[in-house]
Amino acid sequence: MAAEICLSTESNFMNNNVLMRYLDAVKWFGLRKFFWIIRLQIIELKELLINSGLLYPSYQQSLMKRSMSRALIELYNGDDGHQVNHTQFFLGFGLIHYAFVRNLKPENILVIGSRKGYIPATLARACKDNRKGHIDFVDAGYGQDEPSKHWSGIGFWKKENIKKHFSRIGVQHYITTHVMRSAVYAKKFPKKRYQYIYIDGDHSYRGVKDDWRLFWPKLDRGGFISFHDVVARGYLDKGLFGVWRLWKEIDKKHAIIFPFPKESGLGIIQKI
Ligand SMILES: C[S@@+](CC[C@H](N)C(=O)[O-])C[C@H]1O[C@@H](n2cnc3c(N)ncnc32)[C@H](O)[C@@H]1O
Repeated sequence: MAAEICLSTESNFMNNNVLMRYLDAVKWFGLRKFFWIIRLQIIELKELLINSGLLYPSYQQSLMKRSMSRALIELYNGDDGHQVNHTQFFLGFGLIHYAFVRNLKPENILVIGSRKGYIPATLARACKDNRKGHIDFVDAGYGQDEPSKHWSGIGFWKKENIKKHFSRIGVQHYITTHVMRSAVYAKKFPKKRYQYIYIDGDHSYRGVKDDWRLFWPKLDRGGFISFHDVVARGYLDKGLFGVWRLWKEIDKKHAIIFPFPKESGLGIIQKI
């Protein structure tokens, strides 16, 4: 009798075990199928939304989050001359500068000229993301009342609270603004050296050539100097573009040019 009880308990136990294994298999099969159906539908829906232009995943546009890209363009006046896209918040040339600084990890960066800070703010953001580096931003603060000097400047730097302006994206500690002409700045800080320089100030041939003469010697070996508007021609108000002429003259053995958009362009040279 005792043996019979023992046997039936054992077979009950075995039956239960088989049943559980069977249920487990069904459960997992069901869940897995459910998972794949949902996954496929999400992928199809996402593709549909992307193709119809309703969804722009941030990784498709920028190395930065969409909200940061948007802030850079809208608060700091990213424009078509930098190949910016105002609906997708694509950073255009800003993305090139950002990527250079993220990779180079420079200690010191110099920026000459900006209307409302698009490239200086983007570079300061790159320093913040690197947790390293500092921008010296120099702008004379010319406005539309000086038609041969402003180069689309709006006198912003003379009027605004600059620290507050850059604090809007939390980069105020990564940038120092010097409201003065680039030649005055070079005289004031003769010993400063840089690993990345961006020139976008005086766009006349003489003006940009002066900046080249002043700041190329301050660039460390291996560093990069970049010029905006290397293909821009004609007049901007009373200023005649001359960056293209300087670009033609200088040794470009170690240069890269983005000759578009045709009313601006970006040129970059490495110091070997
Ligand atoms: C407005 S930027 C050109 C636009 C620029 N592509 C941008 O993204 O904002 C030109 C700036 O250079 C400044 N500037 C012109 N000549 C300068 C000089 N010699 N030294 C320093 N800044 C200068 C002007 O004050 C102006 O703000």
